[in-house]
Amino acid sequence: MNFRDKIAIIEGFPKEGISFKDITPLIGDGEAFKTLIDEMAAKLRGQGVDYIAGPEARGFIFGVPLAYALGVGFIPIRKKGKLPQETVTITYDLEYGQDTLEVHKNAFPKGARVALVDDLLATGGTISACAKLIELAGGEVVSVDFIIELTELHGRDKLDGYKVESLITYD
Ligand code: PRP
Repeated sequence: MNFRDKIAIIEGFPKEGISFKDITPLIGDGEAFKTLIDEMAAKLRGQGVDYIAGPEARGFIFGVPLAYALGVGFIPIRKKGKLPQETVTITYDLEYGQDTLEVHKNAFPKGARVALVDDLLATGGTISACAKLIELAGGEVVSVDFIIELTELHGRDKLDGYKVESLITYD
């Protein structure tokens, strides 16, 4: 299936000069969404993945059904102050300012094999912070999977040493 056709390009959102890649037509199409999750699950099956983890909000959209398809647990990575139990925390730089992400300290046993999932790889700031967070919590990041990669932003450079895959690339 051609998933690229299901991504809407919205020029000038959220601000001028940005060409926003909108996944809502893709997830709004039941057949396309199911096929996509099934294909991602097929790639990860056999890699000994114990958990899927993903950052809010759009990482949840793909991470949760993927975890369900694989029959493994899902670990939410959330913005500061949302998780109720003891957390591991990481603060990382954005284009302007900083952001903080957290994961529950007890989310998985030490040494768990975790696959990270998010909708988009742009600068790589979010996902590299997620990878560090999983490692700080004692997990091993065995795969990093995206629906979309914006190659000109070179987010992959921040993921050196990880197995990184994306389904659709834009340059
Ligand atoms: C978007 C996207 C990724 C991240 C990618 O999330 O869903 O998580 O940005 O950008 P980066 O590679 O430059 O870090 P956003 O922060 O907009 O949050 P949202 O999913 O809650 O809308």
